[in-house]
Amino acid sequence: TTYKIAAIPADGVGAEVVAAGRTVLDAMAAASGGTFAFDWTEFPWSCEYYTRTGRMMAEDGLDVLRDFDAIYFGAVGWPSVPDHISLWGLRLKICQNFDQWANIRPVHFHPGITSPLRKADDADLDWVVVRENSEGEYAGLGGRNLSGRGEGNEVALQTALFTERGCERIIRFAFDLARERPRKKVSSVTKSNAQQFGMVLWDETFTRVARDYPDVETESVLVDAMAAKFVLKPEDLSVVVASNLNADILSDLGSALAGSLGLAASANLNPDRRFPSMFEPVHGSAPDIAGRGLANPAGAIGSAALMLDHFGLQAEAARLNAAIEATAAAGVLTPDVGGNAKTDEVTEAVLGVLSEW
Ligand code: NAI
Ligand code: MG
Repeated sequence: TTYKIAAIPADGVGAEVVAAGRTVLDAMAAASGGTFAFDWTEFPWSCEYYTRTGRMMAEDGLDVLRDFDAIYFGAVGWPSVPDHISLWGLRLKICQNFDQWANIRPVHFHPGITSPLRKADDADLDWVVVRENSEGEYAGLGGRNLSGRGEGNEVALQTALFTERGCERIIRFAFDLARERPRKKVSSVTKSNAQQFGMVLWDETFTRVARDYPDVETESVLVDAMAAKFVLKPEDLSVVVASNLNADILSDLGSALAGSLGLAASANLNPDRRFPSMFEPVHGSAPDIAGRGLANPAGAIGSAALMLDHFGLQAEAARLNAAIEATAAAGVLTPDVGGNAKTDEVTEAVLGVLSEW
């Protein structure tokens, strides 16, 4: 099978880490003896593209992307363009138009990387944040200048949208995922004591759906308490399902606890498979380190593993994740996780491990 992949490195370290992931995937394809291959098309959509054209992506960009099997994304955002313009013009536009309603963000602790948690059993910690990726706080509803009362008195409204269908599909997704994991447990996260409409709908939907999964343990936790739990009792977590904003924040916390934002992988899935899904590291464009070979490629390479998994190549995905771990365990680490290896050296080390197996 040849998979048609659209690569969108976009901004900053996006280019460095997407190159790393492509190199690794192409090497795995070459070693597969023709079982699978990747046909890449790279798109230049980015803040630089915006500065030239006034758009974050080509006018027919979504139509072009629709024909691909998957999208492999870097990171979008650069100080020269307001972040809400770059994010909405490219990444959120793709997520929303392709109904990528499930965002999967594994929190994985690597042997050889010191976590700020410093628990004796760090290496056994392993949980997944499932993020509602189509509505909630990022529904894009609201407006500016609503008071009509002039300068200094502006009122802005930012509304969160919760639909019963939207809540139900992501909650079911979380339960189905929990069934595949060693610990069958789903933790639902809201702030329903303070947000009494949408989040209460979420809670009630969670309770209803849970009845269909009597074999799966459940808990409902408020988001502030869950932030504390990530730090104090992470061994109690397996699948954590939350709204768009809450899961965004919790997953950054999770990857920082694992050692670095640069480690975290993610998949924006259209589980109905009507549209291509998108695979990207959790981190942003990291302008502070961009272009210097300092970026940790582990998050992007791990996202490539999630893409293999999505294509049904489970054994290859597991092999790639194991290679990322072995590279970390061997001490080939970028500066964000305490080493002095360059991006390319980590990529080479992953290739080396894969070729030995
Ligand atoms: P960021 O994730 O780019 O950087 C936060 C910190 O983590 C920085 O110190 C950075 O050096 C470090 N870091 C990030 N990725 C790393 C990697 N692969 N290896 C080593 N260190 C890494 O977040 P920040 O600074 O808040 O945002 C920068 C830009 O990225 C903004 O324009 C923002 O809007 C955008 N952004 C885009 C995202 C996306 O495309 N999915 C996600 C988050 C932010
Ligand atoms: Mg984020």
